[in-house]
Amino acid sequence: MHDAAPRPLSAAKSESLTGRARVPGDKSISHRALMFGGLAAGQTRITGLLEGEDVLRTGAAMRAMGAQIERRGDEWVVSGTGNGALLEPKEALDFGNAGTGVRLTMGLVGSYDMETRFIGDASLSKRPMGRVLDPLREMGLQVLAAEPGDRLPITLRGPKHAAPITYRVPMPSAQVKSAVLIAALNAPGITTVIEPVATRDHTEKMLAGFGASLQVDIDGDGVRHIRIEGQPRLTGQTIAVPGDPSSAAFPLVAAVIVPGSDVIIENMLMNPTRTGLLTTLLEMGADITIVDRRNEGGEDVADLRVRGSELKGVIVPAERAPSMIDEYPVLAVAACFAEGETLMQGLEELRVKESDRLSAVANGLKVNGVDCVEGEATLAVTGQPGGKGLGGGTVETHLDHRIAMSFLVMGLAAQKPVTIDDQAMIATSFPDFTDLMRRLGARID
Ligand code: S3P
Repeated sequence: MHDAAPRPLSAAKSESLTGRARVPGDKSISHRALMFGGLAAGQTRITGLLEGEDVLRTGAAMRAMGAQIERRGDEWVVSGTGNGALLEPKEALDFGNAGTGVRLTMGLVGSYDMETRFIGDASLSKRPMGRVLDPLREMGLQVLAAEPGDRLPITLRGPKHAAPITYRVPMPSAQVKSAVLIAALNAPGITTVIEPVATRDHTEKMLAGFGASLQVDIDGDGVRHIRIEGQPRLTGQTIAVPGDPSSAAFPLVAAVIVPGSDVIIENMLMNPTRTGLLTTLLEMGADITIVDRRNEGGEDVADLRVRGSELKGVIVPAERAPSMIDEYPVLAVAACFAEGETLMQGLEELRVKESDRLSAVANGLKVNGVDCVEGEATLAVTGQPGGKGLGGGTVETHLDHRIAMSFLVMGLAAQKPVTIDDQAMIATSFPDFTDLMRRLGARID
């Protein structure tokens, strides 16, 4: 898809947004559901799966390694190989744009005595893979081929018998933590992952649900120690994937910044490792009510009622970054419409996402008349309540879905339309984005 001619898209100042929005399934949970279902013995049944390109790539990779995966009506039914029994894929696994898919799958195959080749699109081929390969090397993995800086295409060969390790994750990354925990599934003995800064905990929760023996202790300094016993029997589960807070972020911010809006967002995941944007918007004065908080399949979910709001600038502390890491582009858009300055700190990980998101956001803001300052790991945005003088620019999306959607949201409240250079990547995480936003009243053409 990334080879096709670019398809620009514009968003223009809209009347109040109204109605109900059911956002697609959580991307992180969807990847893991296909992966763990494909590995476990027996059948896993999944409802609410995100049918975006990224997740479908993980499904294709699991099929190439022996899992059976099919859609039956609203359900995805997965028959796994059994833990320890993956097959060597005959062809390269193509992960397209998907960082989570490729990094978690490297963990999965990293403890298998087989050869696996990984490829991806131009964005994924620029992203660092050393962060997952380094701990896997300690477990016995050989990197047979890689581009400089441990970049794709990469060919891996796992050891005959993987060594369990103790690994302290050097950066706040759920993907790195997860790759080690998943590799540990095929290593004898106890693997321990030490996580100084807590990140999303879906791998831990879901592996425990599939039958792995996993223990999480938090020491006096707040550091998490995750111990997993190798070679567990994993058995198929029934999984209801909740709505993705990182996708909900777009209609949520749109409803906050378009005056007079009143939107209900249904069934959003409320796991505290994912709700940093909600916390920040509430601090900025957004009118958001949590309507029906409930537990479904082990995760907290809720409906949110969101109304057009007058926002004020805030300081967003670095500690909050892991719980809203994918939401900074759209938070920066909200900040454009707030009174005063919003300062976001601790953004170093944004530089290694689908694009260098810090510079992509800053450039997109600047071409649309926003006063902002990009630091090494900070972004300061001075707002313009009412969106006066904002818009009129074309944003380079750099194959990054969240840059594309964030700037379309900006156009809904800016004085002049905002255009993005290419809409193709939106399908990686939120295929129904444009239609859903139009149904709420957004002017996107
Ligand atoms: C994810 C972890 C985060 C996030 C990504 C999904 C996951 O990446 O940005 O979209 O599912 O584990 P990092 O681990 O690189 O922070």
